[in-house]
Amino acid sequence: MVNFDNAATTFPKPYSVRRAAAAALRDYGGNPGRSGHDISLAASEQVYNAREKAAAFFGAEPEDTVFTLNCTHALNFAVKGILKPGDHVIISSMEHNSVFRPVYALASKGVMYSIAPVSADSSITLKNIMREITPFTRAVVFTMGSNVTGQLMPFAGIGRLCAERGICFIADGAQACGVVPIDIGKDNINFLCCAAHKGLYAAAGTGLLVSDGKFRLRPIIEGGTGSTSLDPEQPDILPDALESGTINTVGAISLSAGIDFVKNTGIGNIFSHESELCAIFISEMKKIKEVKIYRSDEAKYLPIVLFNIEGVLPEKTAGFLNSRGYALRAGLHCAGLAHRTIGTLPDGAVRFAPSVFNTADEVMGLCRAVAQAVKTL
Ligand SMILES: Cc1ncc(COP(=O)(O)O)c(C=O)c1O
Repeated sequence: MVNFDNAATTFPKPYSVRRAAAAALRDYGGNPGRSGHDISLAASEQVYNAREKAAAFFGAEPEDTVFTLNCTHALNFAVKGILKPGDHVIISSMEHNSVFRPVYALASKGVMYSIAPVSADSSITLKNIMREITPFTRAVVFTMGSNVTGQLMPFAGIGRLCAERGICFIADGAQACGVVPIDIGKDNINFLCCAAHKGLYAAAGTGLLVSDGKFRLRPIIEGGTGSTSLDPEQPDILPDALESGTINTVGAISLSAGIDFVKNTGIGNIFSHESELCAIFISEMKKIKEVKIYRSDEAKYLPIVLFNIEGVLPEKTAGFLNSRGYALRAGLHCAGLAHRTIGTLPDGAVRFAPSVFNTADEVMGLCRAVAQAVKTL
């Protein structure tokens, strides 16, 4: 089976990541940060190394780098930790439910929200955000790149406009981390939410919330942190404030190897290899008149291509491709808002999302399978 559903989670993982995860289970089974005995300390050291590496990768401090279970957890921590009744928040018209649902849930508790339309032209997207700003705007929560169309958003521009106005910028980096360079300081990102199991090739169940330390979050989960145990209140120092409960040690150690893999391969090389595979796919699909691709010449894209075969349900296309050995995700991709924006409701579309491990031959095989699907379905 060839996996072209890497936007959901990357698979396969690099050999070094698999080896690190196996070593974590074999050699570092203690609970990190909980005890002074050697088994716990060995795990603590590994987790700290991973934290330091992740922090450096995004230009942050280790203590401002929090392990989460996934990007959804990171986004919930940031969105619910910063917004209070009476606050206003701006999101984009291309958000994943991991942004839209927490914001929507807060709307019933007195938080107001606006949806800024995304344009193919970055300067218009920035103007659309500015138009929504009110004196109550506390945060902008924006995807860095759409998981539906792959459209890359002007995140550095958004960061700048937020910084100039003292607005907190929460960036959904689920699809961008590991594929485009990100420096939270230079990009003025106050909270970067990351699905480390995607572009950083960590094990499933690994995410990150990386902050620049300028805004404080109220914790939304309280519990054991291995620190200040007599105090009934959650500690307010990071990362403890946001890291209640046992950490996913296997995930953290796999992340450390994943970041090494991305650094050694070169983020630019990863982006250009995957983008080249997208270019091959697009140029082959353009030869089939029944295939519609959801891209604009004006916009910039992450290596993701959304398409449909005219008159064929996306689920049927993906089912056919699965039967030919190609894994692609069809439907709404947990982003009904984004599909509404691009006009693909109610059935959605099919998403092609390569990883660094896919080859041009595999893409050509997929293109032949799509051509067969057009004839067969
Ligand atoms: C843009 C975007 N945001 C958030 C998420 C949620 O990520 P996770 O599955 O790690 O919670 C995803 C996952 O596909 C995504 O693509």
